[in-house]
Amino acid sequence: MKFFVDDADLREIETLQAIGLCDGVTTTPSIIAKSGRDFFTVIKEIAKQVPGPVSAEVIATDFDGMLREGQELAALAPNVTVKVPLTYAGLKACRSLRDKGVMVNITLCFSVPQAILAAKAGATFVSPFMGRLDDIGVSGTDLVQEICGVFDQYDTFQTEVLAASIRHPMHIVEAAHAGAHVVTAPPKVFHQLYKHPLTESGLQKFLADWQQSKKP
Ligand code: E4P
Repeated sequence: MKFFVDDADLREIETLQAIGLCDGVTTTPSIIAKSGRDFFTVIKEIAKQVPGPVSAEVIATDFDGMLREGQELAALAPNVTVKVPLTYAGLKACRSLRDKGVMVNITLCFSVPQAILAAKAGATFVSPFMGRLDDIGVSGTDLVQEICGVFDQYDTFQTEVLAASIRHPMHIVEAAHAGAHVVTAPPKVFHQLYKHPLTESGLQKFLADWQQSKKP
């Protein structure tokens, strides 16, 4: 399972790269806006630091605009993955960009039929949003499981399932059980993965015992 970092902060990315937790990066217009910096500069910097796929999203909602923006983004670096929304225009732009050899991540996927269309359009990744579904009382885990189950039936479906909108460690575990190829999560959630109260108290006890054993 690949781990992508859902953030644009280079220092956060570097911290996770140091423990092998950054196979790629995903960004949204909201994440880039949070950085307060120029969109193209930020994407270029991340794509230089991270060898894996770096998703950058188009803002246009029409086909021509998505294609134009997608090509501009793809020209920034060979590992830039163009992110398009799961709409008719997005699927059409995906097909066109894939024909030009550009990687595409179809985002804002909330149903199995939508995911099937992303695979048919040749998307490199499709991103089901787990947290946002949970927010409205629908199981994000069930969706990821169902999509993986369908994709497993067909060798011709090369699209990777990228579990997104991750809010807590259990989302990552559930996506792993479901067989998601990739999970993208905010740095905060990745750091929660290695923390455990028993690890912490066990460490404190070892240190205290060590100090005790050194007393004459
Ligand atoms: C994925 O590519 C998105 O950036 C992200 O996972 C959305 O998460 P959110 O629902 O927490 O905004």
